[in-house]
Amino acid sequence: MPVTASPLRFPGGKAKYAKFFEKIIELNNFDNMIFVEPFAGGAGAAMTLLLEGIVREVILNDIDPKIYAFWYSLLNNSAEFLELLRTTPISVPEWRKQKRKFNSSESILELGFATFYLNRCNRGGILAANPIGGINQNSKYMISARFNKPNLERKIRRIIDLKESITLFNKDALDFMNDLKSNYSGRELLIYLDPPYIRKGKLLYYNHYNEKNHIDLRATISQCPFPWVLSYDSHPLIFRIYKEHKIRTKSLNYSLSKPRVAEELIISNLKIPEDSNVRERRQGNYASSRRKPYNN
Ligand SMILES: C[S@@+](CC[C@H](N)C(=O)[O-])C[C@H]1O[C@@H](n2cnc3c(N)ncnc32)[C@H](O)[C@@H]1O
Repeated sequence: MPVTASPLRFPGGKAKYAKFFEKIIELNNFDNMIFVEPFAGGAGAAMTLLLEGIVREVILNDIDPKIYAFWYSLLNNSAEFLELLRTTPISVPEWRKQKRKFNSSESILELGFATFYLNRCNRGGILAANPIGGINQNSKYMISARFNKPNLERKIRRIIDLKESITLFNKDALDFMNDLKSNYSGRELLIYLDPPYIRKGKLLYYNHYNEKNHIDLRATISQCPFPWVLSYDSHPLIFRIYKEHKIRTKSLNYSLSKPRVAEELIISNLKIPEDSNVRERRQGNYASSRRKPYNN
């Protein structure tokens, strides 16, 4: 099993949540669930759970047409995608070509592959960033540092083998959630919401959220008839808008820039397993999160 199941390096990717979801599924006696990510990105948790056979299907949604193009072309133009992976050189001149395609191609395959290419070549997996090692490649790490073709091909093939179990959408998350109510009524869905980060969202994703969007999401979640789990970066806004809910913290080892321990907030309408990594956070006990006002 590769270290992470998703071929995308996603800023804030949640492959690390897979074990946590496994425990949630066990604790709540769920069986054979369909795992849904309305803010899919690299779908780190969904892919791991699917490939390990812990959920039977996944439904992915992302508003970003480039992220959608990546998943779409991998699932629907699989042979062509693999051929591009095998034959496209990893170099700064090719990076420039892929960047042009990323900005202007009308072919979903070209757009999807360019998104993947930039994601693997760029610093931190950030689509708007420069390549690892810089344009002049005068650093210890080079543009190909995160582009191990045989490993990536293995990851992609494992996903292609399960493509009948993956459904994809390209909608705004709130519309998508509302559509689930009518189209999947009575089905065994487990929804995992990982919205854009509050603090760094603007830097990391083309589609970020403002305060109103976070509040609107809260309203949609409160109408959600399915089991759901929401994760957030720790911020006073979340304590304010989810004050009726039990809020837990989860410690994570992150590597957005350097490895460090980060803390995320978990809110859910389910029983959540608590241990040394996941604890209830008492209201008012978030002085360290209060330093900065909301400024997204
Ligand atoms: C924190 S990332 C998700 C990371 C993901 N959990 C992973 O493991 O890779 C948030 C994602 O939400 C998407 N997004 C932002 N606004 C959205 C919206 N209104 N509706 C749906 N997706 C949105 C972004 O494009 C981004 O891919």
